Order: sequence, then structure tokens, then C-alpha cells
Amino acid sequence: MSTKKLWGGRFTAQAESWVDDFGASISFDQLMADEDITGSLAHVKMLKKTGILPADDCDKIIAGLEELASELHEGKLEFSTTNEDIHMNIESLLTEKIGPVAGKLHTARSRNDQVATDFHLYVKNRLPLVIEELTTLQETLVGLAEKNVKTIMPGYTHLQHAQPISYGHYLMAYYQMFKRDKERFEFSFKHTDVSPLGAAALAGTTFPIDREFTAKELGFADVYANSLDAVSDRDFALEFLSNASIMMMHLTRFCEEISMWVSQEFKYLELSDSFTTGSSIMPQKKNPDMAELIRGKSGRVYGDLMGLLTTMKSLPLAYNKDLQEDKEGVFDAVKTVLPCLKVFNGMIATAKPNVDRMKHATENDFSNATELADYLATKGVPFREAHGIVGQLVLKGIQEGQNLQDMPLEELKKASPKIEEDVYNELKSEVAVERRHSLGGTGFDQVQAQIDNAKAELKKAD
Ligand code: ARG
Repeated sequence: MSTKKLWGGRFTAQAESWVDDFGASISFDQLMADEDITGSLAHVKMLKKTGILPADDCDKIIAGLEELASELHEGKLEFSTTNEDIHMNIESLLTEKIGPVAGKLHTARSRNDQVATDFHLYVKNRLPLVIEELTTLQETLVGLAEKNVKTIMPGYTHLQHAQPISYGHYLMAYYQMFKRDKERFEFSFKHTDVSPLGAAALAGTTFPIDREFTAKELGFADVYANSLDAVSDRDFALEFLSNASIMMMHLTRFCEEISMWVSQEFKYLELSDSFTTGSSIMPQKKNPDMAELIRGKSGRVYGDLMGLLTTMKSLPLAYNKDLQEDKEGVFDAVKTVLPCLKVFNGMIATAKPNVDRMKHATENDFSNATELADYLATKGVPFREAHGIVGQLVLKGIQEGQNLQDMPLEELKKASPKIEEDVYNELKSEVAVERRHSLGGTGFDQVQAQIDNAKAELKKAD
């Protein structure tokens, strides 16, 4: 049998301890201990200010909570399952410290608005950490891109050599994805930065509370307009998970490519030893474990999102105990995405591009075929016809083991008399890249412009 509950008044029998264990959340919601004490401090200050409680009672509670906060930071607080969750634990620790006056803290409040407040504060406090890691990664990418504007590599579609591109351009594509990720986290701040405190159980309270006061104390920009919504809304947590999932998806794409680029077949990149591992049996191995692990960890973040979406689905208003299941996924996602971003950043920052190998890959293929078709189109040949002519030359090249740039002029002229000596310059991969001046293209000037814009964006956000 378990001990008497703080809410045990109307009960004649007590649950078995294994049933209590099932209902308890203290094993995980103790991660919000700091937020819980902060929320309670704001609440009791409001009770004092409004005169709902006598000032000396409030002062005792405030002093007790402050002591608990210091003990928490010193790692001295111990929680117990008997007290179900973090809210009951803190209240019971407060009672041990200051006696029965602690029982006045819960005036005009319910655990329903209390837990929602804690959770909002928890997510709100973590958003800047994610945004900071994303900014660091963006800075790394811009720095690498700037060094590699003129590094030529194959650009792929369908994983087939398509057209040569600048490695800087490639890196800046990911910069753009992380920029949108950051913006999404910033957008979700608005919905997170709202105070549910004072919604009480679901309907508000008859006590003359001051919700704006507590919101301000807690640094919230706004208060929930509807008490039912306040205690049951978890959109802010879903937004966090959804943003985290999209961000992880971007990381998986990058990680997948890194794993390919370091393989024997590509060898475009060499990862630093500090971000790779060896094999216990094969002495030659250098595995891109970190890239694979980040790719793999996307699964749990998607799972966290799916878990909460499913928990929320069909939930009637207002609070239901189902909502206790809202936290672990978010905690897990926070614990996952922060190190993923940090490790990824270190890995890409120290990865060395094999410049010659990348360039060579663009010279031993037909990725300059579009250049030849464009060349003919510029000389008045309808593009469709030019496409056909070059297609024939490519076929011949494949059969005879010869690239377009290695075919003699008289051979090319047989395909089209419009082809002149100047074609050979345009068939060079760096020229193909350099000439793509269209806005947002891989032309060196365009890549540099992207980098300049990115630097200005990052500076402005500083
Ligand atoms: N541990 C609960 C949670 O995480 C706190 C709120 C409990 N409220 C209630 N009426 N049972 O959601």
C-alpha cells in the first residue's frame, strides 16, 4: 500500500504501490524541476500582490521555494515516486521545509495549469539552445563554402552525374535548409511564449488572480485567452517536434551524402579521425559512424513527433491524464537534436574535400553534354534538335570510350557544322560552372553572392 496522497481526502482506499508507479511521472518530469519552482514562485508572488494570501505566508513560501531552488542546483533534491510527479514532489519538499503553510501555495491553481506552465517554460528555455547550434552550423557552412567557391564537383540528379557544380554551392544548399529550420524554431517561439498559468483546472478561478502579472514574472509575452485551451494545448510541443523532425531530415540527407562521399567509390571527402571509428576486425576500416548515427537518430525524433500526435488525437477537452505522455518525447528530442547538431558541425568543419578527385569526376563523364547542347542552341539550332545531336555523340562516346571534350573537331563537325574550336573551352567543367550566372545558380559569382547574403544575415542576427 502507498502512503496518503496530497489529494487523498475523498478516498477510502489507497492504490497498490505498483498502480501508483504506473501513474507516476516523477521519473521523467523531474527534468522540469527548475521550471516548476520558477512557476510556483511567480504564482505565490501574485497571491501576495493580489492579497489572496497574507503577505507573511507568501514570504515563508517564497523563502522555502528559493531554498529548494538552490538545493536543486546543488544536486541535493531527492524525489520520490510516492509523490507521483514533480509538482507534488516540490510541494511535499516545501512542506517538509516550512510546514503546513506550504499547503497555501496551491490556492487558485491546479496541476493542470501548473504542468502546462512548466512545459511551456521547458520548451521555451530549450529553443534558444537549438537555434544557437543551428547558427553555429550555418557559420561553419558559410566558411567552408567561401573556401570552396571554385571547387568543382559533379552535381547529381537520380544519383547520376548531371551537371558540374561548385562544392561551395552544394554546401550553401544545406545552409538554406538550416536557415529555414532556424526560422521554423523562431516562429514556434510565439506559440510557446504564452502563459497558461491561472487557467486553473480548466475553467479559471473565483479568486481575484492576476494572470498578466504571473506571465510577466515568468517572461511570457502573452497569456492564453481561453482556460480550456490553456490546459489542453500542446501545439507548441508538436511544433517543436515537427521542426526538429524536419531539421533531422535535413541532417540525414547530408549524412547520407557524407557517407557516400567518403566511400572508396567516391572519395570526395576525407573525415577527420576524430569523427570516425575503426573496426574491431578489419584493420583498414575508417567508418563514418557519426554520420550514420545522426542519420539513425532521425528515427527517434520522428517517433517522438508521431507519439505525441497520436496521444493528442481525439483527446476531449480539457485536461486528461493522457497528457502526461506529452513530455518524454520532447525531452528525448531535445536530448537528441542538440548533440546531433554539435557532432555534425564538428564533423563537417573538419572534413577535407578531395578537390582533385571531385574535379576529375566531372571530367570523366558526360556531364558537359548540356553545355554542348546549349552551345548549339546559342548558334541557332533548336534545343530539341541540339539535344538529339549531342545524344548521338554521347552514344558514340560511350561505345568508343571517349569523352566529348576528347573528340576531334572534325568528328564534332560531322555531328553539326556549327561546332567550332571555341567549343572546347565551354566543355571544361569549371567553365560550365563559372558561366551559370543565373540567379541562384552555381556560377562562381552567384555562389559568392549567396555567401555574402548569408554572412549579412548571420551578422544581422548577431
Ligand atoms: N503529472 C501530470 C502531467 O504530467 C500533472 C497534471 C496532473 N493533473 C491531474 N489532474 N491528474 O500531466
